[in-house]
Amino acid sequence: MKSFEELRQEIEKFQIENAEALEAFRLQFLSKKSEIQAMFGEIKNIPADERKQFGQMVNEIKEFANRRFAEFKATYDDKADAASTVADITRPDTQVSVGAMHPITIMMNQVRRIFEDIGFSTVTGPDIEDDWHVFTALNFPEEHPARDMQDTFLHPDILLRTHTSSLQVRTMEAQKPPIRVICPGRVFRNEAITSRAHCIFHQVEGLYIAENVSFADMKQTLLYFAQRMFGPDVRIRLRPSYFPFTEPSAEMDISCYICGGEGCNLCKHTGWVEILGCGMVDPNVLENCGIDSKKYSGFAFGLGIERMTMLKYKTNDIRLYFENDVRFLEQFKAATR
Ligand code: PHE
Repeated sequence: MKSFEELRQEIEKFQIENAEALEAFRLQFLSKKSEIQAMFGEIKNIPADERKQFGQMVNEIKEFANRRFAEFKATYDDKADAASTVADITRPDTQVSVGAMHPITIMMNQVRRIFEDIGFSTVTGPDIEDDWHVFTALNFPEEHPARDMQDTFLHPDILLRTHTSSLQVRTMEAQKPPIRVICPGRVFRNEAITSRAHCIFHQVEGLYIAENVSFADMKQTLLYFAQRMFGPDVRIRLRPSYFPFTEPSAEMDISCYICGGEGCNLCKHTGWVEILGCGMVDPNVLENCGIDSKKYSGFAFGLGIERMTMLKYKTNDIRLYFENDVRFLEQFKAATR
């Protein structure tokens, strides 16, 4: 076995001038197979009275080698690291956590996209409205029970809009036909919060005013929308309904896209699910907004975004959309892109 002094000199003289030499040094003096390590194995064979001193010497020489190694490691190992980062393209990438868009935003954008592709443009407007834009211009007579259809958060002069139909009025007041707009926005109703209803939700309203617009135009437009949103096989049906601002009015169902019309839990075994309200704009509304009802006609429709999102992503509680639980929202990462 070499003497401690010999070993110390070897360590001292070892030329470490690049990464390879550093590695050679490590193998020779610090690895499991090094002489120093072998000396640790020898300790048990040393006579008891010399054992303590021998042990101390081995430790000292090992620490000396460690210090040398550390001194040069800073210089050469960094470079080795940098070189291997460039070279090793198989190394896993640093994970960057990307957020997701809120499902309501995703759905609003999808609806907008579908209508923008056929020439509708988007308009927005105030959440806080006056009676004229939310009710009176839309043919809700004062004191008329139809106002109870929408449980309003009311103040004598101002109110939170209960539907984005207020934007119908604002658009018709500001633009001349032809008008093709969609109006996304948040709406407010004084309702108890349950898994199916919330006091805040989102709507997209559509409005099309031009000469000779017919009910058939509306039906075809809504069929186009349903098929782009829920797939080419989807069918629609219109059921007679009532809204003060449209005549005739209808509610539109789509064939249940889960069971294809066979009947399942989602469609409550009817084969159909309701997705929007629609109708031909009442001539009174056109006149209220300064549009000649003899010359122009049009249709409007309004759909609830939460409801559409619940249908599309099969969630059963509307409150999830307002709680902003990250575990829920993260599931929309794929749909965000
Ligand atoms: N504004 C109606 C609602 O909130 C929906 C609707 C819009 C109906 C346009 C017909 C035409 O329920």
